[in-house]
Amino acid sequence: MLKGKHIILGITGGIAAYKCATLTRLLIKAGAEVQVIMTPNAKQFIQPLTLSTLSGKPVISEFFTANTGQWNSHVDLGLWADALIIAPATASTIGKMANGVADNMLVTTYLSAKAPVFVAPAMDLDMMRHPSTVRNLELLRNYGNHIIEPAEGELASHLIGKGRMEEPENILKALDRFFAAKEDLKGKRVLITAGPTVEKIDPVRYISNFSSGKMGFALAEECASRGAEVTLVAGPVTLKTPEGNIERIDVTTAVEMHDAVMKALPESDAVILCAAVADYRVENVADSKIKREKTQNPVIQLIPNPDIARAVGQAKRPDQVTVGFALETDNEQANAQGKLERKNLNFIVMNSLRDKNAGFQVDTNKVTIITDRGETIEGECKSKRDVARDITDVLYKYLTEK
Ligand code: C5P
Repeated sequence: MLKGKHIILGITGGIAAYKCATLTRLLIKAGAEVQVIMTPNAKQFIQPLTLSTLSGKPVISEFFTANTGQWNSHVDLGLWADALIIAPATASTIGKMANGVADNMLVTTYLSAKAPVFVAPAMDLDMMRHPSTVRNLELLRNYGNHIIEPAEGELASHLIGKGRMEEPENILKALDRFFAAKEDLKGKRVLITAGPTVEKIDPVRYISNFSSGKMGFALAEECASRGAEVTLVAGPVTLKTPEGNIERIDVTTAVEMHDAVMKALPESDAVILCAAVADYRVENVADSKIKREKTQNPVIQLIPNPDIARAVGQAKRPDQVTVGFALETDNEQANAQGKLERKNLNFIVMNSLRDKNAGFQVDTNKVTIITDRGETIEGECKSKRDVARDITDVLYKYLTEK
């Protein structure tokens, strides 16, 4: 996929810069043309000579070439590039990119570039966790830049944690995937539920759960990026609607979510039921705030909510594909298999609260996909976006191999 592509590799001053020799080599081997831009500090970590030899082009670092007075045009470079990779991206460069501090050739080129930008951060554990880094990375994400998450492991400081620049092979894979990105869901309508539902007890209290909506939103983003028209029915969450062709319908209760889903169902080619729907709602919702002085032992009477997945399973046409989720704490496989059958799903995505870094609130997930064709596909712990890609790949197969 990288054959003939123009890649700017921006290297900044971190120890992981040594990995850029390999990254340059891999890009060239994949058929790309590579222009290396280094920040002044990057040259302390790796010699420009190494990179110019591997890339076959002089490395650019300054606005002007001192001895010839030739101006290096950041605008031309920005237009030439099919992609810009900043690896390693230090906290300082990330901060400059986030805030438009164009005091070197690399950040200036970044601000001019129209091409997609990939950022592979690398820094020490505490720098990575600092609120300014977190905020700046969030800003870059909001600008549409692709963050290649750093890996966990031993850092240059010998601390263990998140902050290692992703390995060159994986950076190459991320780029390859980007250029391979097909609009394979074009013309398909995908209905997704996400987040929790909230069921009132009285005007100020409610019953809900810890779902953040992150998995459902990642699925909406993935499906939209692959060309699908997405309807995202979201319970109360604090997430921004991802970019792309996504119609978001905000709901509060399970009944509202049920009604929104059943309305959109006939038009949908696929339904992904990712929401953590409250199984019960309060029958005797109080009209005014329940007061301790008046009601010593209030009894909250619960009644079952509609099972949206089951209702979809009953109403669906044979050409519609349905996907459920099963978050379990024990007996995972058997419970998920039961839900697959009861809810008439094509496949179910199972995760366990016993797995670290999986489930509610976190940005990562570890899932096993069980299909009605008898397959069990076990995944690693990955970012929710990567898990969304794996789920969408299975969905794509169902939509096309019926
Ligand atoms: O809650 P449970 O574990 O049964 O959820 C399994 C699947 O059913 C999930 O896909 C969830 O979104 C869906 N579900 C639903 N409506 C409910 C309960 C669950 O759509 N009332």
